[in-house]
Amino acid sequence: MEFQRVAEETSLGENQLLSVELGNGERVCLVRVNGEVFAVTDRCTHAEYPLSDGSVGSDYHLECALHGAVFDVRDGSVQSPPAEEPVRTYEVKVEGGEIWVRAK
Ligand code: FES
Repeated sequence: MEFQRVAEETSLGENQLLSVELGNGERVCLVRVNGEVFAVTDRCTHAEYPLSDGSVGSDYHLECALHGAVFDVRDGSVQSPPAEEPVRTYEVKVEGGEIWVRAK
């Protein structure tokens, strides 16, 4: 899968989340932590709530707004229940003032 341009870099501030859509209709949640951009599937593995409604801190922990499951945006791993399955992560590059993602 090729990199896809999904957002302008300026549209994602520090500790912010942004939901974007890939060409195949898949929704991805962009996250900026400590200046770096990460991307995970925009669907919690617990009850499919959009993770982009949650919050993220400088510890890279993204908390789902519905029941409080916590994921690490760097590798998608679960840090706190009730989720049990990790979320998928995407490769990210920032180039020409734009954010690009591609499936790993
Ligand atoms: S849907 Fe995310 S914790 Fe339940």
